[in-house]
Amino acid sequence: MQKARPLLVFDSGIGGLSVLRPIRALLPAAPIVYVADSAGYPYGTKSESEIAARVPALLGRLAERFDPELIVIACNTASTIALDHVRAALDVPIVGTVPAVKPAAALSESRVIGVLGTEATVRQAYVDRLAAEFAPDCLLIRHGSAELVDLAEAKLRGEAQDPAGYSRILSGLTDQPQGDQIDTIVLACTHFPLIERELEAASPRPIAFVDGKEGIARRTAWLTRHIDWPAERPNGIALFTRWTARLERYRQGLADYGLTLMESAGRAP
Ligand code: DGL
Repeated sequence: MQKARPLLVFDSGIGGLSVLRPIRALLPAAPIVYVADSAGYPYGTKSESEIAARVPALLGRLAERFDPELIVIACNTASTIALDHVRAALDVPIVGTVPAVKPAAALSESRVIGVLGTEATVRQAYVDRLAAEFAPDCLLIRHGSAELVDLAEAKLRGEAQDPAGYSRILSGLTDQPQGDQIDTIVLACTHFPLIERELEAASPRPIAFVDGKEGIARRTAWLTRHIDWPAERPNGIALFTRWTARLERYRQGLADYGLTLMESAGRAP
């Protein structure tokens, strides 16, 4: 058994918290460093080359600073674009997050599946490959929404939610040809499970929402099964790559995920 180093969970913003929750359920004593790249947020409206350059460089600096046991890229946009680059650059086990097309195909009866992600994720060839491999008999209808990412961030800040916004965003899928036959939607952005209840409430009919967070947690637990985690549940750290006054409003929401210490690469909070 070895002494525990932290798990580093990474996203552009607070979306990775949806992945952190099942990780903490399986590994309650693992020290957590949660990193939100607030200086780069949002990723979904950036180009492939920006993400491919930014994410490996940032994770390299973070790996040097925290010497993590493992890194979870809890972001579909970063994973579908930069996972291979990160793995090639770092000598740390990396768990990525990719759209849960396979479980959605196992579930769908209508064989029409919606993929709701960021604009960058839904246009990736990675999604085409998942579709060809795991859902060859399904029609995949895609929609990218930066607004939905912002709505999830606003929810964690405790801001009031507008149901009409959710309906309008969902119609980006259901108004496409054959969109009325969608019975399963892949939440292909880690921010979206945080607002699953709001999406469910806004659905025009019962639709199953699917994501990969439980599988990511199981994979993380498996890859770290040799670790002797500390007996005490440690305080988690939430690190932001740029501090703004608005981040203070995340403090309570972060504490609900065990992230009781906030840090920033800029001015100290
Ligand atoms: N949470 C991220 C994802 O899973 C991206 C959100 C964003 O920065 O646009 O894709």
